[in-house]
Amino acid sequence: MRLSSRLKQIADFINDEEKIIDIGCDHALLDIYLYENRKKMKIIASDIHEKALNQAKVNIEKYNLQDKIKLRLGDGLDVLKKNEVNTVILSGMGFLTITKILENEKLEGINNIVIQSNTDVVKLRKHVIKLGFCIEKEALVKDKDIIYTVIRFTRGNEKYSYDEIYFGPKILENKDELFYEYYNKKLLKYENLLLQLPKYEIKSIIHHKRLIRILKKEVAK
Ligand SMILES: C[S@@+](CC[C@H](N)C(=O)[O-])C[C@H]1O[C@@H](n2cnc3c(N)ncnc32)[C@H](O)[C@@H]1O
Repeated sequence: MRLSSRLKQIADFINDEEKIIDIGCDHALLDIYLYENRKKMKIIASDIHEKALNQAKVNIEKYNLQDKIKLRLGDGLDVLKKNEVNTVILSGMGFLTITKILENEKLEGINNIVIQSNTDVVKLRKHVIKLGFCIEKEALVKDKDIIYTVIRFTRGNEKYSYDEIYFGPKILENKDELFYEYYNKKLLKYENLLLQLPKYEIKSIIHHKRLIRILKKEVAK
């Protein structure tokens, strides 16, 4: 089975013998790929919507994996029993949905979270770090002309600079072609926005000037 480059990057951030839950699995293609390629994994695929979970069921049965991938219907971490998994995958959702799902006492038993948020990646880094995690791995990935950020958080405490929170500490350590493409586009967007901002938007002007300064510093080759 072939995965999109976005889902493949998420799969690459999962270790071979992890016990995972893929929350919001929808089609469950990621889970089918993970089982097919790493037979030792324990996998739970869950979704809050019955229609999505039915689609997952159809796909899982197509690959004859109904005994290998457990399906759960329900909201976020609520579907878990104690110590069932050590790693959570949250992908293809927005910042608010993801942070709401993480607001759950069952997070205590979780050691790793692999996240691909469709929105507010900078806010997401800040939020998950505050929950007692640090950033273990990060990558930018391009899929059908959209550049996504995939992050693997693990339990731990680390201090990060403003630039590290903004770009991602691991992404900054290893700037690739996608980094320059992604952040040069952002730089251009903010420069144009700054030209259009009315003079009374003082806070926004200061904020965007700061972003432009750090973007210029980091994208200069
Ligand atoms: C856009 S799909 C992403 C599917 C897949 N994870 C991916 O990355 O391609 C988002 C899925 O998350 C599910 N979802 C949203 N909120 C949820 C929650 N609180 N708990 C479980 N699933 C949720 C939706 O029903 C939907 O199927």
